[in-house]
Amino acid sequence: MNVHVYDDAKTASRAAATLFAAQLIKKPDSVFGFATGSTPIATYKYLTKWHQKGLLDFSGAISFNLDEYVGLAEQDEASYIRFMRENLFDHVNLKASYLPNGMAADLSLECARYDAAIAEMGGIDLQFLGVGHNGHIGFNEPADAFVYQTQVVNLTEDTIEANARFFDSIDLVPRQAISMGIGAITQAKGIVFVALGESKAEVVKQMMYGDITPHLPASILRAHQNTVVILDREAASLL
Ligand code: F6R
Repeated sequence: MNVHVYDDAKTASRAAATLFAAQLIKKPDSVFGFATGSTPIATYKYLTKWHQKGLLDFSGAISFNLDEYVGLAEQDEASYIRFMRENLFDHVNLKASYLPNGMAADLSLECARYDAAIAEMGGIDLQFLGVGHNGHIGFNEPADAFVYQTQVVNLTEDTIEANARFFDSIDLVPRQAISMGIGAITQAKGIVFVALGESKAEVVKQMMYGDITPHLPASILRAHQNTVVILDREAASLL
């Protein structure tokens, strides 16, 4: 892993955005993997700004997102499709963008369909990853084994509490999500892992120095050939 520490979240996010911009320039038909949550918002703002200035053309590129809640329709303000439209898709000119459909009648079929769609596009060229306080990547929660396929996951209490800030009440947070599996994530040709803020310092320390274990899913990234870890000083404070 290639670890870079920046003074603050803004410069760290700019660095992450630069890696996505470089990938797009190098390969205009790139397949991007995107995440939701607080971490990527500033990165998406930079990509939007550079696109609007005419520096980046996404028209040949496509994207797959890591996850979507089960049971939230796209009109729902807390759905990840809505988040991606507001923070990126409505502002750049991606050729196509895909998220798992958390409203599918047959969720296991939807998971298989999502993996097949990623494979059909040749896999992901560059994947953005944030990390949960419990070490989850996508919604691959701590477990006794890594799950390789896209799957329906039961969200842990930690994750439900952490994500309650996006809902009017914690009771409205869905208890399940569809998450891209560890297979598609680790088969990405490049990964940009970003952790910002003091609250991520402990999980970053465990990921870097602890065992590679499904009990801390992000630790698998230590076995990935081309992962760039981007941290601000606070997230790196225990290294
Ligand atoms: C979101 C996702 C999650 C988040 C993680 C961190 O698509 O896959 O793994 O990256 O929960 O969330 P934030 O960035 O809000 O701290």
